[in-house]
Amino acid sequence: MQDNTRFDGRVAIVTGAGSRDPGAGGTTLGNGRAIATLLARRGARVLLLDVDLAALKATGDMIHGEGGVSASAICDVSKPGDCAAAVAEAVRLWDRVDILVNNVGISGPPGDAEAVDPDAWDQAMAVNVKSVMLMAKHAVPQMRRQGGGAIVNLASVAGLQGGHPGLLYPTSKGAIVQMTRAMASHHGADLIRVNAVAPGYVYTPMVASRMSEEQRNHRATAGMLKVEGSAWDVAEATCFLASPAARWITGVTLPVDAGRTSGQASASPRPSGLAR
Ligand SMILES: NC(=O)c1ccc[n+]([C@@H]2O[C@H](COP(=O)([O-])OP(=O)(O)OC[C@H]3O[C@@H](n4cnc5c(N)ncnc54)[C@H](O)[C@@H]3O)[C@@H](O)[C@H]2O)c1
Repeated sequence: MQDNTRFDGRVAIVTGAGSRDPGAGGTTLGNGRAIATLLARRGARVLLLDVDLAALKATGDMIHGEGGVSASAICDVSKPGDCAAAVAEAVRLWDRVDILVNNVGISGPPGDAEAVDPDAWDQAMAVNVKSVMLMAKHAVPQMRRQGGGAIVNLASVAGLQGGHPGLLYPTSKGAIVQMTRAMASHHGADLIRVNAVAPGYVYTPMVASRMSEEQRNHRATAGMLKVEGSAWDVAEATCFLASPAARWITGVTLPVDAGRTSGQASASPRPSGLAR
């Protein structure tokens, strides 16, 4: 029987696949590295894209160490020419593109509307938002020629809720949520599915460097499940949405957040007599 969670014969592109990691195989690796590794573990050939060559090499070493197949290319996803070349490279290497994971995301400049630097805003919006359009612009025609494909965009719970201290990051992630719906409606008839994953307080190098143990513990227990999430949880959700198992799912944003965006964990037992 066919295992529809596998990617044998498929080609995937993962942006920001270098991620940050204190060492290949560390427990706090970034989302991009975990996603690329899991795709390869399940049979995909993966083109790893990043601006950081050393980080790319570390992800490639991790995949090759497990017997997986990957290649690497330097690509600044805010640059149209780099995105076109990256998709062309996947086709040159392996003749197809089945999966595109738009993982790159940066915190961007801090501050509310009064404080934020407008020039830094433009640059960060290009990295977080324009990049998703640029990569899709080149991947979609290839997927259409092949009869379909899957795009998964990395949003954030910051794009679903208020409460983030900055303005840029939640704005950019909210844009990804809506771009996911719009792209899904544009390309559904070509059997190109477009979904997003919205990670919650996962513990990754993106946040680890700016956090005390107390803050880490607070984040770890903020969700209904009261357990800390990692990049592997994000990677599992991403792989599901990219896989044939999700063939009837498009246009959704899946929170991966231990239930945090659904509400609060019930703190006290239900008062007697209340209807179920
Ligand atoms: N870590 C979290 O807690 C968390 C929570 C919610 C959402 N996310 C989202 O998950 C995604 C990825 O997170 P991660 O853990 O892999 O982050 P990371 O910081 O470990 O990795 C991001 C990678 O993107 C690369 N990059 C930066 N700018 C680039 C550019 N212009 N072109 C190409 N590559 C570039 C960096 O070199 C880095 O390797 C982001 O979209 C982030 O917003 C993370």
